[in-house]
Amino acid sequence: ACSIASADIVEHSFHVQNLTVRRLCHEQVITAVNGSLPGPTIVVREGDTLVVHVFNKSPYNLTIHWHGIFQILSGWADGPEYVTQCPILPGKSYTYRFTIIKQEGTLWWHAHVQWLRATVYGALIIRPRAGRSYPFPKPHKEFPILLGEYWNANVIDVENQGLATGSAPNISDAFTINGRPGDLYPCSHKHIHKIKVVHGKTYLLRIINAALNNELFFKIANHKMTVVAMDASYTDPYVTDVVVIAPGQTTDVLLTADQSPGSYYMAAHPYASASPTVQFDNTTTTGVVVYEGATTSASPKMPILPAFNDTPTAHKFFSNVTGLVTAPHWIPVPLHVDEHMFVTEGVNLVPCGGNATCQGLNGQRFAASMNNASFQFPTKLSMLQAFFNGVSGIYTTDFPDRPPVVFDYTNTNLSTNASLLFTSKSIKVKKLKYNSTVEIVFQNTALIAVENHPIHLHGFNFHVLAQGFGNYHPVNDRKKFNLVNPQLRNTIGMPVGGWAVIRFHANNPGVWLMHCHLDVHLSWGLATAFVVEDGPTPNSILPPPPPDLPKC
Ligand code: C2O
Repeated sequence: ACSIASADIVEHSFHVQNLTVRRLCHEQVITAVNGSLPGPTIVVREGDTLVVHVFNKSPYNLTIHWHGIFQILSGWADGPEYVTQCPILPGKSYTYRFTIIKQEGTLWWHAHVQWLRATVYGALIIRPRAGRSYPFPKPHKEFPILLGEYWNANVIDVENQGLATGSAPNISDAFTINGRPGDLYPCSHKHIHKIKVVHGKTYLLRIINAALNNELFFKIANHKMTVVAMDASYTDPYVTDVVVIAPGQTTDVLLTADQSPGSYYMAAHPYASASPTVQFDNTTTTGVVVYEGATTSASPKMPILPAFNDTPTAHKFFSNVTGLVTAPHWIPVPLHVDEHMFVTEGVNLVPCGGNATCQGLNGQRFAASMNNASFQFPTKLSMLQAFFNGVSGIYTTDFPDRPPVVFDYTNTNLSTNASLLFTSKSIKVKKLKYNSTVEIVFQNTALIAVENHPIHLHGFNFHVLAQGFGNYHPVNDRKKFNLVNPQLRNTIGMPVGGWAVIRFHANNPGVWLMHCHLDVHLSWGLATAFVVEDGPTPNSILPPPPPDLPKC
């Protein structure tokens, strides 16, 4: 009873508008929240209600997504454009209101409209309820570390240009730590994030990958880190000298200042496993860990980051961490499965159309798909409004519309896969009964190139039962399932050219997007959604939308 009495209402206002920033020797007008990049850090306790008034003073349509929040019976606040709401038009406002139950740790918020999240994002930190503590020694201090990706251009223009020509959009010009590129970039000597530590003390770093299109390696010179949570789920302590983090993911680490007082770079650069033909931003962002009392003149020590294509290091990190089953809010693995799904993801093509030539592969247009369906966002009504009001014609419930195609997913020879190479646009979703348990076998395909696909599920955490390379084997690979203490995540960095198996419990009615968290792949259609029906009891029915839900 006393923990309920201690729950608070935490209220924020987000003023979203143009901001002129100077980065990389250029002035650029960006869209930012409350005049800062990244935007404000929100801190709540588990059990609190968060109320955020969003005022859209930008020239773009806008929504905000609370990445990783369960949104129990509050699906109207989830945020993806045309999935749970129509956008907040320029000059309009919307209040997001939801209670944060049964989850704690590091999450984040970001715009969920086109590529706007490049500059519209921030940390969302959920502390334990009053009187409760972390399942690890209390850190001396906490630091949010937001890894971002930056363009010397208007990101909406970058995206639209790619979509107009069917080509791959321009790669970014820098990565950032808390909005700052760090001193390896031109004109950035002072644009570097610093954290101050005291020798002998331990700190909690809440690392968030807010980059648009790159998984990242993160290291701190001379220091080991102990992973204690991922995606706001506690893990068994895991000691490592490198963190691998996909867009959408968070990783909480303990850092003990146990080296000789001095300054040490933290640094991040891409884990880009794709075939060498796929271009990526190969630059490195830095920040500095400075010990109190260190001489300021000595230059910081630099860590050696893994090679861009170091898949063994990435796989070791992604697959070796286990969930902390004794932690508060641990969810046991569902042992009974109602829905078995096999979902492929990959990059493909759609015809350019007419006699025109596009700048994608073979004069066609790049696309991406799940089970060869390339997801297109609706434009007239949100899927959740269609679901709630029984409006037909917005989406179809035939995902996946065909049995899994059996072929060698690791074969990049285009001609043998010609029928799979081309896809078409649609809005296919999977309908789920309330409380059903779902197992998904994800299989990466290699139709054009082998690429990273961090797959994010809205509304739920899922268990990662097993993962591996090559083609999933339905008999042998089942034996590898961890049904005891697997990771609980909202985003999985799929093994490149491999497979992964997840399970989740669909215990929340609403419409929940599932997509690749590389924005380039999302804008090409690498997505689908789950429509979870209402349950039988009053507390399993989605309430009506808030009165200020943006009009369509
Ligand atoms: Cu972090 Cu659908 O997004």
